[in-house]
Amino acid sequence: MKILLLGKGGQVGWELQRSLAPLGELIALDFDSTDHCGDFTRPDAVAAVVRELRPDVVVNSAAHTAVDKAESEPDLARLINATTPGAIAEVVKAQGGLLVHYSTDYVFDGSGDTPRDETATTAPLSVYGQTKLEGEQLIQQSECAHLIFRTSWVYAARGGNFAKTMLKLGSEREALKIIDDQVGAPTGAELLADVTAHAIVKTLQRSELAGLYHLVASGETSWYDYARFVFEQARAAGVALKVTAVSRIPTRDYSTPATRPLNSRLDTSKIENAFGIELPHWKVGAQRMLTEILK
Ligand SMILES: NC(=O)c1ccc[n+]([C@@H]2O[C@H](COP(=O)([O-])OP(=O)(O)OC[C@H]3O[C@@H](n4cnc5c(N)ncnc54)[C@H](OP(=O)(O)O)[C@@H]3O)[C@@H](O)[C@H]2O)c1
Repeated sequence: MKILLLGKGGQVGWELQRSLAPLGELIALDFDSTDHCGDFTRPDAVAAVVRELRPDVVVNSAAHTAVDKAESEPDLARLINATTPGAIAEVVKAQGGLLVHYSTDYVFDGSGDTPRDETATTAPLSVYGQTKLEGEQLIQQSECAHLIFRTSWVYAARGGNFAKTMLKLGSEREALKIIDDQVGAPTGAELLADVTAHAIVKTLQRSELAGLYHLVASGETSWYDYARFVFEQARAAGVALKVTAVSRIPTRDYSTPATRPLNSRLDTSKIENAFGIELPHWKVGAQRMLTEILK
């Protein structure tokens, strides 16, 4: 089997390089790859690469993920998050392959306090959410065989993440104010990559498994409780922190260019039933990541 991975240098892309390698021949590209074009600002060039390489599976983890920046550069966000994935989907459809793509809970408005399933009404609050939704729609409209995984609050040991920011701030400041009214499930890039590999194998065996899925770790937390968890783990590992007062603030007191959904809960029953998996609690992966960055 030939697999083309796009966006290999991102959090999820990096882990996919590991999890996809045992499935077959893996060609992995980034936006600045020189052998083939992996630059999502060039939809025709990326589509031409897919046409030329004829992979059995294309896995796209490239995206414009700078949620606040996207508000001031919507055209670029749309090109990367929607136009180019759509162009890839057209080629995958023509070649009879499988396209794997990632999306986000930001396609929803985050109202209410219950988990949303795949049939819930979308209503993005931000340019990022809107362009990610358009990407989903272009892939679906192409009618190519696809797996679209909507996920949330992605972290990895490599690169920056919320836990690392908290550890830095916690070592510099005595008091911190953390948002307490956004609720979701921190989801490890490792978990996404492992489930992706499993789902590809199963979907190639049973084509009816293709479709849209919610994929996040189980359980839920707020950024405030997540930060508290990070500080507890750090102290248990012997890290000296300066922070003594951690207080809760509502989202409205922390102004950002992009509006974030308050309720990021996603119902994962569909993916668990379809692929026979049990998604681990978010603390399992977060603890692993912390063990890695605290050593
Ligand atoms: N991060 C989250 O919390 C989160 C939440 C929900 C859903 N998702 C989705 O999950 C998927 C993977 O996200 P991630 O967390 O791995 O994001 P990430 O770490 O930001 O990775 C995205 C990758 O895309 C690359 N990229 C940016 N512009 C590009 C271009 N013009 N051409 C080609 N590649 C380009 C980035 O390169 P640079 O780093 O050099 O810019 C980066 O390597 C995305 O579809 C994202 O929308 C993420």
